[in-house]
Formats: sequence, C-alpha cells, structure tokens
Amino acid sequence: MVASTVVTVPYGKLPLEAAEKFVKSKGARRKIGEGCYGAVWASNEGKRGSGNRVYKVCNTEKNRTAYLPYVQVCIDELKGNTHVPRIYSVTEFVAADIYREDDYTVICMEKLAPVGEPNGNPLNGCGYTFESGEHFNSMNMMYDTVRHGTNKDKFNPEMFKALEVIGHVQRKWSCCLDIHSGNVMLRGNILVITDPLS
Ligand SMILES: Nc1ncnc2c1ncn2[C@@H]1O[C@H](COP(=O)(O)OP(=O)(O)O)[C@@H](O)[C@H]1O
Ligand SMILES: [Mg+2]
Repeated sequence: MVASTVVTVPYGKLPLEAAEKFVKSKGARRKIGEGCYGAVWASNEGKRGSGNRVYKVCNTEKNRTAYLPYVQVCIDELKGNTHVPRIYSVTEFVAADIYREDDYTVICMEKLAPVGEPNGNPLNGCGYTFESGEHFNSMNMMYDTVRHGTNKDKFNPEMFKALEVIGHVQRKWSCCLDIHSGNVMLRGNILVITDPLS
C-alpha cells in the first residue's frame, strides 16, 4: 500500500506552486498532458530522474469524489491488476493559511502511452480485439460492464474486475463515468484505465 504524504505549505505560499516545485525537483519538467482536472508532467526521455514515471498534479477538492477515490482503489483493491496504473506515491500539498488557496495532490505513477486513434493494429490487451471500427463498441461494452456487470465473457478476468470496482466507486461517490480514448492508455499492448471517473 502506498502511503499518502501530507506536506503543509507555509503561510503565504500556494499549494499549486509547492506541488509544481516538488514535481520539478523530481526531474519532471515537461507538461505532457492536460485535461479538465489535472496536468501531467514528465522528464524528457533518456534524462536521469523520472524517465519512466509521470507526476499528475491535480486540485484536491475537484478530484475528491471521483479521480482520487479511483487512485485509492488502484493502490489497494486493484493493486497488481494489469489494467490499472501502477501508483508509486501520493503527495498532498495543504495550505497552512486559513484563507487559503486550493490544496493540490501529486500522484506519481508509471508513464503510459496514448491509445491514439484506432489505426487498424489489433491490440489484444484485455481479452478482445481493440481496433478500428470496434473502438466505439469496446467503450460501450465497458460502460455496460461498469453499470450492470454484464459482458463477463467479453473481457479477461482482470479487466472485468477493474471495471466492476470502477462501478463500485462510481456508485459510492455518485460521479460520472468518463471512459474514452483520452482516459485509457497503453503499457505495451495492454490497455490501462487511467481516468475513468469525473
Ligand atoms: N500515466 C500517464 N502517462 C503518460 N501520460 C499520461 C498519464 N496519465 C495521463 N496522461 C496524459 O495526461 C492527460 C490528462 O490526464 P488525465 O488523467 O486524463 O487527467 P484529467 O483528469 O485532467 O482528464 C491524458 O489525456 C494523457 O494524455
Ligand atoms: Mg482525463
């Protein structure tokens, strides 16, 4: 289990700046991804430091009822599941001020590759062929599994388990399902679900 480290940011200092300083101190200086809820930083390939890992900086409050609970299940219930990101550390930056700016959380995890647009290369990462034309159906199938526990025969047991647990988190926090090609990535040819809830 990855312990979450809490860093108290001194009076007058901003948690976001502290979080970004921390990320840069780890060698991750390039923003490689950005969504509505977070920014992902990595070092240039081949450089010493964080070459095979990335740091996702996210607003703690905005992610409290969807993404961060997902990170938590990746750390415990789904630890070792090949279809979820490997999380190395979680660091929370909490402002000391009473009239404070938002708090930020940094998740250090394995670096993954984008799925990109389906290009016709069959990927057999999760028990079905993920390829052009089937892309939309695949995502729909995942939605049905998360919501209703169906399609057990369509996915390998690890993917089915991951989708089932995502369903538990989604219902517990009443958040939205957000599985699409920007929130699913690749480790080699294995599909990894990075950001399924919002
Ligand atoms: N583990 C990772 N390795 C490499 N890039 C990543 C990783 N996680 C996310 N990204 C990139 O950062 C983008 C935003 O990350 P995401 O987790 O989807 O955040 P948001 O909550 O803002 O949508 C992704 O679309 C992807 O391009
Ligand atoms: Mg996203």
